[in-house]
Amino acid sequence: MAKVNREWPEAENERRYWGEAMALQQAERQLAGRQEILRSVLLATVGTVLIAGLALAANWGHPPARIAIAVLGQMALCFVMTLTSATLMQVAFKLPRHPFLKFLAASAGVGLSSLALMTLVHWLIGTPEIFKTVASATAASVFYYVLFPLALLKEHLAERDRAYREATHWRCQWGLRRFPVPYGPADFGRVVWHNLFPPGKRYRELTPFTARQFRLKEVSQRPCRIAFLGDLMPMQSCSLAFDEALRDRIARADYLVANFEGSLGDGPWACLQQKHDEKILDALERLKPAERIYLSVANNHAADFDYDQYLLTKARLRERGFQVFGSRDQPAALIDGLVCLVGATQWTNQRHGYLPFLEHAEHSLREGYCNILYPHWGYEMERYPRPDWISRAKALSETFDAVVGHHSHLPGPVTFYPDASGRETLVAYSLGDATTGLKLARYQHGMLLNLDICRVTRQVVAGDWQFVRTHITGRVATLKLHDTCPLFPELSGEEGGAVTEMPRRV
Ligand SMILES: [Fe+2]
Repeated sequence: MAKVNREWPEAENERRYWGEAMALQQAERQLAGRQEILRSVLLATVGTVLIAGLALAANWGHPPARIAIAVLGQMALCFVMTLTSATLMQVAFKLPRHPFLKFLAASAGVGLSSLALMTLVHWLIGTPEIFKTVASATAASVFYYVLFPLALLKEHLAERDRAYREATHWRCQWGLRRFPVPYGPADFGRVVWHNLFPPGKRYRELTPFTARQFRLKEVSQRPCRIAFLGDLMPMQSCSLAFDEALRDRIARADYLVANFEGSLGDGPWACLQQKHDEKILDALERLKPAERIYLSVANNHAADFDYDQYLLTKARLRERGFQVFGSRDQPAALIDGLVCLVGATQWTNQRHGYLPFLEHAEHSLREGYCNILYPHWGYEMERYPRPDWISRAKALSETFDAVVGHHSHLPGPVTFYPDASGRETLVAYSLGDATTGLKLARYQHGMLLNLDICRVTRQVVAGDWQFVRTHITGRVATLKLHDTCPLFPELSGEEGGAVTEMPRRV
């Protein structure tokens, strides 16, 4: 294995570890500041009004004076206890480092202490129905002791994500997670579901496929043709081959773009790590000279090992002559002085700040260039984009000249969206898997997209797309062109000869 070429001599000095960084962040913040106190007062006021009614109902039928004492006592208790417990929950939440322990400390820790204290006080003031009074208050406040810590947890996780995604010390280590998941619980559940059952057709009607060949404008001069593939997943024990038709199609393009998903490096084990063998690079070089192949390293597996292994991967790709983009130091690549190709990722399995995230993509726009975004985004194993994904695509199509995505492991719709001026912008939601050694059929589908860029106007003027599929026989995985894809039976392939004339670009 090649030695790491350190691109930043100062990197070692800037190195921080996740735990250390979080500890520093926490130390800088007060355990309970103005925001925490205000939140506690609000909760105490709402809680007191609610609990007063419950105490009145629980003691109804006893002498009025005793009811009044019990209710007023309960109100005072509730206000003081909620004020105290909300403050204590916020303080307790900040003490442990692990999110689950934070939740536990705030919820069970403070909740049980409050319950014990409430019982003691009612016993001391002689409340006639201690059990009923305490039980009704407990039943009402159990939600508070669960929901409030949950809200704190949600806020903490969002803050933590923001911290690493916008890290100023972006060359730092954030520590290795053994079971990394880039999504929240709901989306993770969906990924598991879609791995167990066939991918759904939900939202199919929202995004139609454009024709397999499309033309936006006639040009006299030969355009620059860029071929795009999706995710280059590790080949496992397989070698990689390409069928002749695919080799010919890619040979006709000037450049090839693909997503190098994973790492050439190695390191301590964590679940779902994607480790490449350099043999995949030998195979790619049979498609085109390495200097004409642009590889994005902006994906959720680029940081699977650690920062050194990420540096090693980039260094090795560059030593082999490949054009690398989609890193924080080089998010974009300029092609032929015409195209600004921007890599960005929505997801990452390991937390770090050294990849360009999708929300930073527009920082890389270049005026006067054809700006093509090549994002690693969307949702795994979903054929059609969800509404929130569509909204994001439409927003990005306002500023980019084309958006060509990947990550879902399945090919997705290629479509056009008009911007405010009526200009049609291509969005290819996902090019699926370009290579894989996985012997699971649903992971073997992808797409080849060609885009023609006019050398004068620097705009996308035409293009075409076609399905690709990996066929594994023995230890050889062959990527082949296909007119059809079993995931999209409604696309018969008969429309393949048609050329759709799109509205002219302005
Ligand atoms: Fe991915």
